[in-house]
Parts: sequence; structure tokens; C-alpha cells
Amino acid sequence: MNDRLAGLSPQEKRALLVQTLRRKSGAIDKLLDHIAVKVDDLEAEAVLDPEIQPAFNGTPPRPERVLLTGATGFLGSFVLSELLRHTRTDIYCLVRAANTEEGGKKLRKALEAYGLWDEELSSRIVPVVGDLSEPLLGLGPERFEELAGEIDAVYHSGASVNWVYPYNALKPTNVLGTQEVLRLATRDGVKPVHFISTLGVFPLVGRSGIEVFRENDDLTHGGSLYNGYTQTKWVAEKLVEIARARGLPVCVYRPSLITGDSRTGAWNQDDFTCKMIKTWVGLGTAPKLDTELNMVPVDYVSRAIVRLSLRDESLGKRFHLAHPHPVSVNDLVAWIETFGYPLERVTYDKWRADLINPAKGLRQDALYSMAPLLSMSAAADGQALVGKMPEFDCRNTTEALSGTEISCPQVDGELMENYLVHLVRSGFLDSPTGG
Ligand SMILES: NC(=O)c1ccc[n+]([C@@H]2O[C@H](COP(=O)([O-])OP(=O)(O)OC[C@H]3O[C@@H](n4cnc5c(N)ncnc54)[C@H](OP(=O)(O)O)[C@@H]3O)[C@@H](O)[C@H]2O)c1
Repeated sequence: MNDRLAGLSPQEKRALLVQTLRRKSGAIDKLLDHIAVKVDDLEAEAVLDPEIQPAFNGTPPRPERVLLTGATGFLGSFVLSELLRHTRTDIYCLVRAANTEEGGKKLRKALEAYGLWDEELSSRIVPVVGDLSEPLLGLGPERFEELAGEIDAVYHSGASVNWVYPYNALKPTNVLGTQEVLRLATRDGVKPVHFISTLGVFPLVGRSGIEVFRENDDLTHGGSLYNGYTQTKWVAEKLVEIARARGLPVCVYRPSLITGDSRTGAWNQDDFTCKMIKTWVGLGTAPKLDTELNMVPVDYVSRAIVRLSLRDESLGKRFHLAHPHPVSVNDLVAWIETFGYPLERVTYDKWRADLINPAKGLRQDALYSMAPLLSMSAAADGQALVGKMPEFDCRNTTEALSGTEISCPQVDGELMENYLVHLVRSGFLDSPTGG
């Protein structure tokens, strides 16, 4: 299948997957089983260019100019806003665009979409046109050297966040892009790298037998990772670990599922959780699953990352950004019902059958984004595979943020209402009929 996907455009890959799903639900099971990979088998991918060798130059100075990747994305926009508000640094933003002007507009549009644009702070945003998937970030040798000399630290949030594409399709951006970021950080002196990873580097799907994941746990946990996205993030984090071992000061931040802004409800509508809610609402059914979701509002994640990154003691550490109180799927469904969307609770198999039934008329987008869930084979039943969610120990984060005003907002019915109001106002969801 990987061979079949190679050479297709993203749109063609998407159409092929949707078509496959519609025709034969078993095919996607096989596809996803095929791409579930044991981390031991990914080790060979985690090879950092031997030329990336940090030459230690003492304690890094307080940054005056930082590079941020992924600033047009969901988390990246909030990190950019936090950096603008809580530091005095200029923020160079790597952005895919035809030219600097277009890059600047793209950054502004992203911040405006989340209600974060602040005209007074905007002069400190410096668009840098580039591409993570290209050698030297697509900057060319001269600009790459120049940028390496200009910046004092890197925040690496950019990634292709796609739960359907296979490893090889995501590798150029997520793995090789991280290598280029590490190259930049070691090219002219040594610059700290703040790497946004994910709790998905641990085996969360299926029964790994591990009950608690700790910040200092070895990435070589022996488990399997279920999709190309988590596999690439695992390899990328491994590269960051290798760079750390060579002497680069790095911080790794691992968020759980990032949800909307707890203050305004603004949420990335391309996000998996958002689309899952849309799918439930569209079908009028939700699967009965006795499990939990660990959701963390984006304003908490971005504030925590920026605050942690500004402490010298953070360098070299890993930080889990998970909610201390995960939400049960049953509660989530109940909150959505209270808002006014009636949801019949059905078995996982019935729900899955509805999802892939063309007569139900779900738009391709919703179906496509739910593909990873379909990998739970009908024979095995979804519940058996989801199992009990492990706990995420956040000791480093909790200790470092104690005494600050930063704490994780409660995820409850009130917050969900806030999110749903925003999703309706933006036209992502139809208005509820029942409330
Ligand atoms: N969302 C979550 O629930 C979650 C959870 C845990 C960890 N994370 C991590 O958090 C980070 C941000 O995630 P997100 O949800 O904010 O993702 P997102 O909204 O999809 O944003 C991704 C960003 O990366 C940029 N990007 C993608 N490919 C690129 C390339 N080839 N060159 C340059 N830039 C590129 C995108 O730019 P364009 O605008 O040009 O596409 C965008 O700015 C990722 O590293 C992700 O792994 C996310």
C-alpha cells in the first residue's frame, strides 16, 4: 500500500483511502495493522547526521532572537502569541510561502483566526520563508548560515500532523525537518532547542501493559506505535535525544490531546478531537467506550511551554503536558447531549458500520479523519483494543510550574459548552436542534 501511495498527491491519497474505506471496511484494518510498527524496528531510522556536532560554548545567553517553526499552526500560533507577550525577543517564524510578504500575511491570518493578533507586538514577528521538508530548511546555504548566526534558540512546533498518512509520507517534514532544525542549532555556536513532541511516542493504543508513563521513561519501551504520525514523532524525538547526548541543550515537551482555548473556545477545526465530535453529531450516534481522553487546552500548553522554556533549569529536561483529570468518553458524550445534540449510544461495531455507510451521508472529511479508529477490528470489538488509558506522570512540569499562576483549566461541561458555541458560531457544526 505504501508503494501505491507513493507518487500520489495528498488529495489523491485522501480520495483513495476514503474509497477503500467505503468499499471494504476490512481493508483499512489491514492497512493500519500493516503500518503498526514496533519501536525496536524504528531504531534504524533514528540516525542523526554525524556532522551535527554541538561545540559547547557555555551557558546559553538570554535569547534576543528565536526561531519558531509551525507558527501558522494551532499550537504554534499560541506559542507565538505567548512569546510575543512574555518575552522581548524577535520571533523569526519559518513559514511556507511564496515570499516574505505572503508569509507575513499567513502568520497574521493564523493569529487572527484564534483571536491572538496584537498589532502593537506584531513588529517583532519576522517571517522566514522556508520548508521543513527541504535540506537546510529550504533556505539555501547562505541564508541558512546567516539565520544560524542570528538566532539564539529554536522552538520546533512544526510538523505534519496527520493520523492517516504512512511513515514515509511524513518523514521528510517530521523526521528530516527535525534533523535540519538540529543542524541549524549547532551551526554557529550552540542554541537550545525546544522540541514539541507528543505523548503519542508511547504505546497508547491497545494493551501495552504499561500503566504509567513518566517523563524520564526510555523511549525504547518495546511497544508498537499505530500510525505514521506517532512513528515519525518517535524517530524525531530520538534524533533530539541523540543531539542531547552530543551536548546540545534541549527541552522536550509532550502534550496529550490539545483542545481549544479555554478562554475563548477557539479550536483548530482540522484537529482530530474536533472532527470526532463533528462525526458523532453528524451521525447522531456515539460509540459506547469505557475509556478516557486526556485533553489539555491549548492556552495551558502554550503558556506552560513558554514559561518552562525561560527557566535555565529546564534545559535537558522532558515535560509531560497532560491533564491531571482525564475525561471519560461517556461524560464527553453527555456534555454534547446537554448542549443540544442528541446522541444515541451504540456498540462500537454499530457505530463503525454507520460511519462507513455512504447512506449516512457524512462528508468525506469527517470519515477520513476517523480512519485510525476504524483500525479496531470489528471482530476484536473497539473496547478490547482501547483498553484502559495509562496515566501520565507530569512531575517535572508540576514542580517547575508550582508557585506560578499557570495551571491546567478544568475540562468539564462548561468548557465543552464554550467549545461547542465556538464551533457553531464558526459554522463548523450546525446549530443544535434539541437545546
Ligand atoms: N494537536 C495536538 O493535539 C497535538 C498533541 C501533541 C503534540 N502535538 C504537536 O504539536 C505540534 C503542533 O501541532 P498542531 O496541532 O499545532 O499542528 P498544526 O495545526 O497542523 O500545525 C502544523 C504547523 O507545522 C507547519 N508545517 C507543516 N509542514 C511543514 C513544512 N514542510 N515546512 C514548514 N512548516 C510546516 C504548518 O504550516 P502550514 O500552515 O504551512 O501548513 C503549521 O504551521 C506538532 O509538533 C505536533 O506533533 C500536537
